[in-house]
Amino acid sequence: MKIKNMKTNRITNPLGFDLGKPRLSFVTYDTTAKKQTAAQIQVALDEKFTDIVFDSGESLAIDSLAFELPIKLKPCTRYFWRVTVWADNGEVAASDTAWFETAKLAEPWEAKWITPDFDKEIHPVFVRDFDLLKEVVSARAYVCGLGLYEIEINGEKAGDEYLTPNFNAYDKWLQYQTYDITDLVRTGQNSVEVSLGNGLYKGRFGFEGGETEVYGDQFALLCEIVLNHADGTTTIIHSDDSWAARKSKILFSGLYDGEIYDAIFTDGTSYNVKMLDSGYDRLKARLSLPVVVKEELKPIEVFNTPAGETVLDMGQNMVGWVQFRTNATKGSEIVLQYAELLQEGNFYQDNLRTAKAEFRYISNGEESTVRPHFTYYGFRYVKVSGWNGEVNKDDFTGCVLYSDMDQTGGLETSNPLVNRLFLNALWGQKGNFLDVPTDCPQRDERMGWTGDAQVFSGTAAFNMDTYAFFSKYGYDLAKEQSSLNGMVPMVVPMATVKGGGSSAWGEAATVIPWNVYLHYGDKAILEQQFESMKGWVDFIKRADEASGSKRLWTTGFHFGDWLALDGEDPNSPMGGTEIAFISSAYYCYSSMLVAKAAKVLGKEEIACEYELLSNEVRAAVQAEYFTSTGRLALNNQTALVVALFMDLVPDEHRNRLAKDLRERLKKDRNHLKTGFVGTPYLCRVLSENGNNDLAYTLLLNKDYPSWLYAVTMGATTIWERWNSVLPDGKISGTDMNSLNHYAYGSIVEWMYRNVAGINPVEDQPGFRHVRLAPQPDYRLKYANARLDTAAGLYESQWELNEEGQLKFKFVIPFNATATVELPDAKLENVLMNGRSFNDLEVSANQSGKQVQVELNSGTWEFSYTPEVAYLKYYSTHLPLSELLGNEEVKHVLADTVPQTAAFPQEMIANIGHQSLRELSHMPFLPISAEVLDELDVKLNEIKVIVQ
Ligand code: BGC
Repeated sequence: MKIKNMKTNRITNPLGFDLGKPRLSFVTYDTTAKKQTAAQIQVALDEKFTDIVFDSGESLAIDSLAFELPIKLKPCTRYFWRVTVWADNGEVAASDTAWFETAKLAEPWEAKWITPDFDKEIHPVFVRDFDLLKEVVSARAYVCGLGLYEIEINGEKAGDEYLTPNFNAYDKWLQYQTYDITDLVRTGQNSVEVSLGNGLYKGRFGFEGGETEVYGDQFALLCEIVLNHADGTTTIIHSDDSWAARKSKILFSGLYDGEIYDAIFTDGTSYNVKMLDSGYDRLKARLSLPVVVKEELKPIEVFNTPAGETVLDMGQNMVGWVQFRTNATKGSEIVLQYAELLQEGNFYQDNLRTAKAEFRYISNGEESTVRPHFTYYGFRYVKVSGWNGEVNKDDFTGCVLYSDMDQTGGLETSNPLVNRLFLNALWGQKGNFLDVPTDCPQRDERMGWTGDAQVFSGTAAFNMDTYAFFSKYGYDLAKEQSSLNGMVPMVVPMATVKGGGSSAWGEAATVIPWNVYLHYGDKAILEQQFESMKGWVDFIKRADEASGSKRLWTTGFHFGDWLALDGEDPNSPMGGTEIAFISSAYYCYSSMLVAKAAKVLGKEEIACEYELLSNEVRAAVQAEYFTSTGRLALNNQTALVVALFMDLVPDEHRNRLAKDLRERLKKDRNHLKTGFVGTPYLCRVLSENGNNDLAYTLLLNKDYPSWLYAVTMGATTIWERWNSVLPDGKISGTDMNSLNHYAYGSIVEWMYRNVAGINPVEDQPGFRHVRLAPQPDYRLKYANARLDTAAGLYESQWELNEEGQLKFKFVIPFNATATVELPDAKLENVLMNGRSFNDLEVSANQSGKQVQVELNSGTWEFSYTPEVAYLKYYSTHLPLSELLGNEEVKHVLADTVPQTAAFPQEMIANIGHQSLRELSHMPFLPISAEVLDELDVKLNEIKVIVQ
């Protein structure tokens, strides 16, 4: 038995974070034991645990998901902690030592804000030399720089993170970072150099060219270096007017436009710095996870385009930058330009709009390894100009930059295109979880769009440990909201984009914290966000009351089912679902989330109030949008999906609505038409309401509009639009067309929840208990998923063999339990670990078409022949196009109904979505009922197990 994943506030060994009341979590694994019987947590000020400041003793009350440490923290102090776990089989495990270190807390700053005494456009490097006479046992630097900064001690970069102090609403709070620089300082002479760039603080940011100096017009630095000596004394070196500034070799930097680095540049002058009266009120120890180089990619190819350009292909649409080795002659200028796609084989940047996305490097003739500092790019292709000699791909490395999150999920099926789709969403997350969840990472936008983050947050929490990432985003969101009377802005941080209050976008306030709670089981996220969650619903309620208290939300600006394909106006991106319906649905949904959060936090009265509100909204929605017989008055995919997902449909009409959705899809030729609102729920609603087959049909469609269309077009990330690139390879437009936009990647949540069947449950969050309910389909041979949750590692696998027999394998971690739901199973036919339930002491029962089994930790296997065959059966009830897609079927049809063999492709494209039975009433295809029945007998013989 071992202990792993020791985290504080779900961060491994956090240094200098604002931890509030620290919450410790850990995972016990590698054991056959089932339950934790007791645990002990010890916290000490030294690694040897001689100076213990907290000892829980052997306790029954330690929850490995989040144990709130009941101690008062000291500033600038490292706390070491370890855990011992006792299990029900007598095993005992002792952990390694983990730690967290506090930042300055309420300690006053000695450092002063400084700015260089030269033109505000010139990038500065702040310098300070100092002598150390005494040996240093530990050293820390506490730093904030505006816009962005990197700090070097004695010529070496401190820490491994980039783009500090990260991105947030700088007008409301500023994050400072803490660096352990013990190994970088030395007795004798030392130097500190802090170099600065624009970032979104000071550089260009926003729409239509954006604005500069959004948050400030001056570079500024605050730096305090604390050197602790062996004799117990401390030396503090801090920014003030004793520092000097140099003009940087970075001549320009901008998030959108890139960077210019002149390695030759120096004016040999040391400039004075001025102290700024910026105060310390906004300063706060960091919440942002470090942005680090998480992966490196080598170009797969260097090639010349028809236009004569030299281009690197990274083989993957990635985010970060390319680092290169060069020994170019002095004065030569190397230019790298970044792009997502080629057009007619040539380098192409038009969809980046005004973003230049380039890096210019002027060589000083010395062999160097070069990278940009204060920018990043979203790209697959890099055009290289000005290179001396032949471009060799070995000289280039793609540095993939994102917030330092652990990947927790993985999924693989028998279908390589589906696997690529899964990876595309994962890459979408890597590329857009760079401190702020952005819509896209490449064009002149890269903003923390709340709607995009909301719809993807469920998928994101499966893929990676997003607790700390979303906790910082939530904090920022609440800060912005606090000055907007509860309104949630369109983007966070708002920067230049004023306005907000749109349904689905504002739901970032309620849905994200709830998802985070569900996934990690730490209610601190709800405590932190509660006022924000409630503030958002109160904002909606006020809008409702201002328009007559109808318990509907019918006013204000909303983005609607953004980019859906069923809008009447082809020029409007807002889709075809009635906006007031979407808004009212979210009104109901968000009120319920507030009620649930209140319940978790023990705020019973508020819970009742918001539950009542939610029920009132539901009743109003039903009165307004449902007929008395239970039909939804709106007949499009997203409306039906939302009604089912958000529980708006009266219970007794749920089945009918599910059927109506089936009908709707049929009319839409079993292709999706949904946008940002409907897409995340579409397949989930289908699978959970008796239409699992259609969810797979939508997943596996390869033609436009579908998820796999982009995959078959070679996409390596998720596109913003269903048709971002047209079948002939041409981009469909440049106005709003990113090839790395994760919103539609939200299908992956369905893959985890319904294909692999791993579902967190609300009353035991953090995967302490799960509902394991995979829903296989004959079109896949197998699916394997792994999920390293807060409660430990789950595995869920299924396989469909040639005989149509289903096999499942589940791994449930220590101290966790699961309710397994086996689809289309009969209790007496199921074998568990090779034996029938009669011979086993487990709690298993038949529940409708499912067998339900209660399981605890361990590895469990099931096999049976499903009651409904997981094979494809052909019949005259299937769409003509599907029938003609199978050679054998085609022959059977040609024998009996020869006309079908002669149908031109165009005709099949027009009528093929209708079943043969439906078409048999058409004058051009008269088939008698008897012939149809005969055909069914013949077609029924043709079975297909997998594609
Ligand atoms: C972004 C979207 C965003 C939308 C607002 C676009 O510019 O890229 O993803 O949510 O605007 O509707």
